[in-house]
Amino acid sequence: MGTSDAKPKAVDLFCGAGGASMGLLQAGFEVVGAVDADESALDVYSENLCGSNSLDFSGEVTFNEPLRADLSRDYTGYDTADSIPTVTFADIRDHFGIETGEIDLICGCPPCQNFSALRDTDPWPDGEPKDELLRAFVEFVEEEVPPLVLFENVSNIVNAGDDVPTAYVDWLLRRMGEINRDDSRRGGYGRELSVLNAADYGVPQRRRRSIGAFVYGVDDDSVTLPDPTHANPTIAATDREDWVTVDERINRDDLKEDLELGHAQTGIDGFPDDPAHRSRRHHDSTVQMIQAIRKHGGSWKDLRGTDDEDKIKDCHQDLSTGAASAYGIMAADEPAPTLTTRCTNVSSGRFTHPRENRAITFREAALLMGFPESFSLPSINEKAERVIGNAVPPQLIRAVATTLVESFPSMLHAESKSAR
Ligand SMILES: C[S@@+](CC[C@H](N)C(=O)[O-])C[C@H]1O[C@@H](n2cnc3c(N)ncnc32)[C@H](O)[C@@H]1O
Repeated sequence: MGTSDAKPKAVDLFCGAGGASMGLLQAGFEVVGAVDADESALDVYSENLCGSNSLDFSGEVTFNEPLRADLSRDYTGYDTADSIPTVTFADIRDHFGIETGEIDLICGCPPCQNFSALRDTDPWPDGEPKDELLRAFVEFVEEEVPPLVLFENVSNIVNAGDDVPTAYVDWLLRRMGEINRDDSRRGGYGRELSVLNAADYGVPQRRRRSIGAFVYGVDDDSVTLPDPTHANPTIAATDREDWVTVDERINRDDLKEDLELGHAQTGIDGFPDDPAHRSRRHHDSTVQMIQAIRKHGGSWKDLRGTDDEDKIKDCHQDLSTGAASAYGIMAADEPAPTLTTRCTNVSSGRFTHPRENRAITFREAALLMGFPESFSLPSINEKAERVIGNAVPPQLIRAVATTLVESFPSMLHAESKSAR
């Protein structure tokens, strides 16, 4: 990073509560701007990442609070009770006092409605994406044209299957390849986009995400994503470290395991107060079902044909396929399954604690997403769960951002200033 202390500068679009920002900070970036529409996620961002009490990273956040704004560029509008402004990148620069051309990297995780489980599988007749937030994201990049761009999204955009248009990715790659600064230098972004599994980068969670790395004015071949550092130890011997397991991350001395359901870890002798180490309340029948599942296997399907068959919930009685992971018990010696915005509900996936007859707590979920131990979470369950389930694991972004910085040091403004 050159001889000066200057750090590369990044702006985080669709920043949520700051998962991606934390990865950038870990990679040594100064985050000079961050924008999202969700007020409660932004409160969490401010509390953890801004100001003098913020968590400690090698990089830093330079503003007091992120900007609440609609990033849809008026294509769709943001569905909210109160009206919030739509912004251009010039507005974002003005708001945070950023000079034109000062930014080294734009990071963005535009949510892709078309690729959720309820996605619309119609082809795109005119070759243009129906997903307007993706279009808006590319237009923000086009306005600034920073040397580096980092893009994160669900894995489905790459490997959605034959029935879903790959036009989304084709469109993104084509448009990024066409973007030109208004100068004589060679334009277009060099592009690399593939699906990475966060577990392969030391995150204690299987989370497959599409990651795009874009570098202005270079060939596609010279843009690379980071090599995995971790591997599944049950497949084949490699020189990588073993995947980090659930127990390695959440079986800890500072968490008290035998919480009463619904009670937070506060006022317990010998343990630090942690209001986020609380689990949801379960009905007695749910607890009994979990106990039976633990006895007979790992899923409600294992209760079939046993003397506990009557504990299978009515909604599952007739199901022959699907929902197999509901009420499932998380394996202690593997990475967690993908954590969703319902990841502290036992009915919503394999989210039961490996040993306790309860869902994982909000703290445990945050730890499995790779958040720091002292990350502060909302007291309202749904908000806490949404912040975690929506996040990008910081370690994954750190790995990608570090590779970009190390591969293209001369592209960074901080580097070129220190070389003078
Ligand atoms: C996948 S989450 C981003 C997660 C975040 N990067 C992190 O790592 O924690 C997508 C975000 O897009 C935001 N969002 C959705 N529509 C938006 C809009 N029109 N304008 C601004 N933000 C929007 C949501 O509030 C949500 O926080």
